[in-house]
Amino acid sequence: MWRLLPPTALLLIVSSGIRAGLQKAVLTLHPEWVRVLQEDSVTLRCQGTYSPGDNSTKWYHNGTLTSQQDPSYFIGSVKVKDSGEYKCQTALSMPSDPVNLEVHVGWLLLQTSQRPEFREGDPIRLKCHSWRNRPVYKVTYLHNGKGKKYFHKNSELYIPNATQNHSGTYFCRGIIGRNNKSSETLRIIVGDPISPSTFLPWHQITFCLLIGLLFTIDTVLYFSVQRGLQRSTAVYEEPKLYWSKEPEDK
Ligand SMILES: *[C@@H]1O[C@H](CO)[C@@H](O)[C@H](O)[C@H]1NC(C)=O
Ligand SMILES: *[C@@H]1O[C@H](CO)[C@@H](O)[C@H](O)[C@H]1NC(C)=O
Ligand SMILES: *[C@@H]1O[C@H](CO)[C@@H](O)[C@H](O)[C@H]1NC(C)=O
Ligand SMILES: *[C@@H]1O[C@H](CO)[C@@H](O)[C@H](O)[C@H]1NC(C)=O
Ligand SMILES: *[C@@H]1O[C@H](CO)[C@@H](O)[C@H](O)[C@H]1NC(C)=O
Repeated sequence: MWRLLPPTALLLIVSSGIRAGLQKAVLTLHPEWVRVLQEDSVTLRCQGTYSPGDNSTKWYHNGTLTSQQDPSYFIGSVKVKDSGEYKCQTALSMPSDPVNLEVHVGWLLLQTSQRPEFREGDPIRLKCHSWRNRPVYKVTYLHNGKGKKYFHKNSELYIPNATQNHSGTYFCRGIIGRNNKSSETLRIIVGDPISPSTFLPWHQITFCLLIGLLFTIDTVLYFSVQRGLQRSTAVYEEPKLYWSKEPEDK
């Protein structure tokens, strides 16, 4: 026989539904550079909630579903056509925020982990990366055309606490073999430390309101059905009392 779920059980189901249904999957890059050179290897990883019956991961490239289904998407030797927007999703998660991968062609590339904007206080990592990881020496990082940092042996330029003064154009140059090579310039923008986004996730609010309404209806139904059952039991017992008094009438 079908019975209404007690409200607490429904609440448990619903709250786990809210958590699982509304969390976005998280897509990360390993290594974390969003700008890479042709033939680099890149792994995209997706973290999300799976359902017991569906352990597959959906991967979108430029909005098109790919044939990848593993939580790790390994590209052993990237090509220019691998550039573009990636998103991932699992059975019980919303699609991840997009990650834009840029595949460049050249000898040197100034790599960064985030694009296009940084906020004040963010750390900034810049790496003067060479094609096929050829050794690079006498590396200079230039900011707005002026030498900012020099390394005899190639190292990352790390800015732990970005300020608006770090905005501007950057490039790096160094010696590969016997050749003096330069990267293209990269514009970095350090904006105000923006307060958490004022964007309201309306679909989430609507979903919560809907679930609240369902919960209220279920609770009301549960108690009214219970009361109804009690009343019918009481009515059913009366004849017994009546019959037990019967002998007096004989
Ligand atoms: C999903 O689970 C099945 C069976 O447990 C396994 O064979 C398969 O490789 C899994 N797929 C993924 C993408 O993890
Ligand atoms: C994806 O989009 C990027 C940027 O628009 C483009 O360079 C790349 O070729 C596209 N790749 C595919 C497979 O659509
Ligand atoms: C970063 O710089 C700002 C302004 O110069 C300063 O107020 C803040 O304390 C610094 N934060 C850290 C973590 O160093
Ligand atoms: C940024 O540069 C201006 C002048 O260009 C200077 O007055 C200011 O102190 C600098 N701020 C920081 C946080 O370095
Ligand atoms: C590379 O060339 C630039 C000018 O094009 C020069 O300023 C720089 O010193 C050279 N770098 C090295 C390490 O020789």
